[in-house]
This record gives sequence, C-alpha cells and structure tokens, in this order.
Amino acid sequence: MDILSIQQQAEKEIKGANDLKELNLVFEKYLGRKGEISKFFRSLKDLPLEQRKIQGKKANQVKEVLEKKIQEKRTILSKKPFQEIKRAELDVTQPGERINLGHLSILTYAKREVIDFFKSIGFEIIESPEVETEYYNFDALNIPDYHPARDSMDTFWLKNKEKSKDKFLLRTHTSPSQIRYMEKHKPPFRVITPGRVFRYEAIDASHEAQFYQVEGLAVSKDIGLANLRYVLENFLKYFFGREVNLRWRPGYFPFVEPGLEVDIECQVCQGKGCPTCKYAGFIELAGAGMVHPNVLKNGGINPYKWQGFAFGLGLDRLVMMRHNINDIRLFHSGDLRFMSQF
Ligand code: DAH
Repeated sequence: MDILSIQQQAEKEIKGANDLKELNLVFEKYLGRKGEISKFFRSLKDLPLEQRKIQGKKANQVKEVLEKKIQEKRTILSKKPFQEIKRAELDVTQPGERINLGHLSILTYAKREVIDFFKSIGFEIIESPEVETEYYNFDALNIPDYHPARDSMDTFWLKNKEKSKDKFLLRTHTSPSQIRYMEKHKPPFRVITPGRVFRYEAIDASHEAQFYQVEGLAVSKDIGLANLRYVLENFLKYFFGREVNLRWRPGYFPFVEPGLEVDIECQVCQGKGCPTCKYAGFIELAGAGMVHPNVLKNGGINPYKWQGFAFGLGLDRLVMMRHNINDIRLFHSGDLRFMSQF
C-alpha cells in the first residue's frame, strides 16, 4: 500500500472510532510497533537512495499527522458526555451488583462505645503495654509472689532474652496501667485503659486465653464508692440503652480496700437461671473498689492526701450480655455467620 492510501484509510478509522478502546485499536493498527507505518518504513530498504529519502520524509509527515489526529480524537472521546453513551451500554433497570464490605468486630465497636462514654464524662483514655513485667502486673499492685491471688491469674511467662531482674509476662489484667499512669501524673485525674489481657487457661464457653478489659482509675481528694457506683451505673445504662439490674457484693482484690464485685442480671434468661449464668441468675461483670494505700504509694502518690476508686470491666462479658451471645469463643472464631450479625 502506498503511504497516501494508508493515511486515508487510517483517518477514516480514526473518525469512526466510537470509544477509547476502538481508538486504541486504530492506533495499534497504524502507529503500533507492528503497524502499517512501521511496515511501510521497512519496505523502503529496497528502494534506491533518492526514492528512499522522498518516501521516508512523506511517511514521517503522515505519522505526525496521524498522531495528532489520534490525540485530538482521544481528547474528544474522553470528554464524551454521559448522555451519549449508547443505550445498550447503560440499562438503569438492571439490578445492581451487591458489594460485600467487611466490617469491624463487635468487640471493637463496643470498645469505641466505652471510650465515647468515658470521654464524655471527663476521663482520659490511656494505653499500657501488653507485655509487662512481674513488677507492674503483680508486685506493684500489692500481689507479692507468695500471695495466693497470683494463683487466680494463670500467667503466660515469657523467656527473657537478656539477663534482667524483671521477669516478663503477658499482662493478666489491665490493672498495671494504674501504676504506670500514677508514676507519671499528679492527681487529681481520671482515666480508663481499654485493652487485651491474657490468661493461661483452659478454654471453654466462658473462658478464653485472650480477652478484653477496661480498667478505670479516678484519684482525687474526696472521692468514694458512691462516685464509683454512679459512674458504673450510668455507664451500664448507656451501654445497654436501659436500666439493668446490678448486684454489688464484697469481693477481694489485693489492690483495693474495700473491694467489690459487680454482677449483672443475666440478660440471656432475665435472671431466671440458665447455662450461660450457670443457673445463678447473675454474671460477674467487674471488680472494683477503693485503691489500696500501698498501690497509691507504689505509684508515687501520698495515700494520706489522696484517695480513689478503681474498676476492671470485662468487655467480652458486657457484649455477650447485650447481644445474647452464649459462647465467648465465637468472638475469635472468624465465623461469618456470627460476625455478620453485627
Ligand atoms: N484486675 C482484676 C482482674 O482482672 C479486676 C479488677 C478488680 C480491677 C478490682 C480493678 C479493681 O481495678 O479495682 O480480675
């Protein structure tokens, strides 16, 4: 084919291209590496020098013209208004395609709700390490190593790589955050630490080796159990969206005196007794109390001047009660039948 026929043919096809895809095909056909123009250049090698020069120059001109035309057409096509899209391409009556989006775990949503509530009443939200030392997890909280309370918290001990006198472990509760915070801050203050804790435990419907707590600590001059009760009752009312029956009873924790346990009426059976609450009608939700003077001391706070309350809420339990979940293992099961309900 001579160069002028190539040009004419190409221009016709550029004009006729209906969309960018078609235009690209035209580009390939004429200007691509194996396109007509390249072919033409290759065919010149057999011509005498003079002819080769003339034809080569022509071909270069044609190439430029075509490139320009394609560029112009590309600009037009990419601005092609929506209305011009052929009817067949867009059928607004077709049902849409369902897009399945993932979402966060119910535990994460619940944690955020807890944070929102406590922020709204002036608590600061803090973090604390998941890998702790024996000192912060136990000793500083008034649990020396001969103390029987250590037995109630089966611990994942970690192997120390370097020689150090601190023994490392995975925190068994969020309470060490109390000491860490007190060491660096002067009262009055109020804080919560939401976080993950670990226990070396046999796993069953109500026990996981890994679960979540929310630690609370408020230290001030005249602060007492009435304040603690007010805060927790209001939090639970917010979290459940209604009044829930609570039971406050004495409890023992080495880091508080007096210590309390807060039970919630089992929401699965409304207190009648069922396997979830082991037929007790109530389920333990939190430990709490007035911070023990030794703990204040260990945090560098003078217990003759300051006092405070502390609590540790079980987040998983809270969520289980609110959503009628009877097995804690479901949270980490990855079972979509469970996950997608929230
Ligand atoms: N740390 C305790 C536990 O994990 C819970 C607890 C009890 C926290 C009493 C507190 C408290 O702050 O005052 O079993």
